[in-house]
Amino acid sequence: LIGFRADLPFSPLDYDEEQEGLQERIIIKFSHVVAENTPKGLAVERFSRLVKEKSNGHIEVQVFPNGILYSDITEGAALRNGDIQMIAPAFSNLADQIPQWSVLDLPFVFRNQEDVQEAFEGEIGRLLFESLEPYDMKGIAFWSNGFKQMTSNYPIRLPEDFVGQRFRIIQSKVLEAQFQAMGAKAYGAPFIDVYQKLANSQVDGQENTISNIFTRKLYQVQHYLTLSNHGYLGYVVIMNRRFWEKLSPGTQAIIREAMEETTAYSNQLARAINEQQWDELQKMGLEIHELTPEEKVAWEEAMKPVYEKFAPVIGPALMNEIEILHA
Ligand code: LMR
Repeated sequence: LIGFRADLPFSPLDYDEEQEGLQERIIIKFSHVVAENTPKGLAVERFSRLVKEKSNGHIEVQVFPNGILYSDITEGAALRNGDIQMIAPAFSNLADQIPQWSVLDLPFVFRNQEDVQEAFEGEIGRLLFESLEPYDMKGIAFWSNGFKQMTSNYPIRLPEDFVGQRFRIIQSKVLEAQFQAMGAKAYGAPFIDVYQKLANSQVDGQENTISNIFTRKLYQVQHYLTLSNHGYLGYVVIMNRRFWEKLSPGTQAIIREAMEETTAYSNQLARAINEQQWDELQKMGLEIHELTPEEKVAWEEAMKPVYEKFAPVIGPALMNEIEILHA
């Protein structure tokens, strides 16, 4: 990190003008819903540690994992009310409130991690951050988890296998439409309830990353896993905008720096964790099927109506960027 000296009491950016502001202790409550040994859980921990180091202990990021404070359904309101200052929801959590965010949940919209990175760092990311402003939210970073896979108590290979099955989803119209297109029913529910809903047979299946399936032990209540990579689960790190604007430029710089380092680390980490937990997950007795190229084409065809339905909602600017990405 250029220009940073750990032996100075503050980061050089803060050293002169901002010293005064940093005498006061700043507490940032960061709430999330996943386990600590997940890509998001570890990224939040790292961010907290970096902020502490860079601010010489003046800024404290308090981490509340596993939905102990708020669920994915309630954390947005808590952020707006100022009860917490930072969250990192899955994109899907924003899509109903801010329709542009549906773009990241279009089925098969990203072919690989490079597509994802390009979207985060380019015009798509910029447009999406802009869309947060009117909602009093400040977009700080995009974090990766990974591609979503399907699990169920019934085998899933072809679109017709979905017919009549019930799936838990993150509450979002675009995800609902994805399952509807396959003839299945989808029910929005908080992440912390997924295990129980599967255990009680309130739903037959769900979609998630390897890491979330493994750390939530969903293999205990599911028989089948289909490696489908049909959607992407990533996070947007958000701060309460009024809180952000009240921070001194020096404090903002520390947060930005810490976040930049965390993001670079988290993107590599997400891949490594999902790979490592995939090795573990394979020992847990699920019957695993990898979608064949032909089956994938059939899924893509069946899910096409989602694009038609949501393109007008997402708007031409973002849809145009998706075309460029796919070109
Ligand atoms: C889910 O609800 O399935 C995910 O959003 C959980 C998470 O935040 O990774």
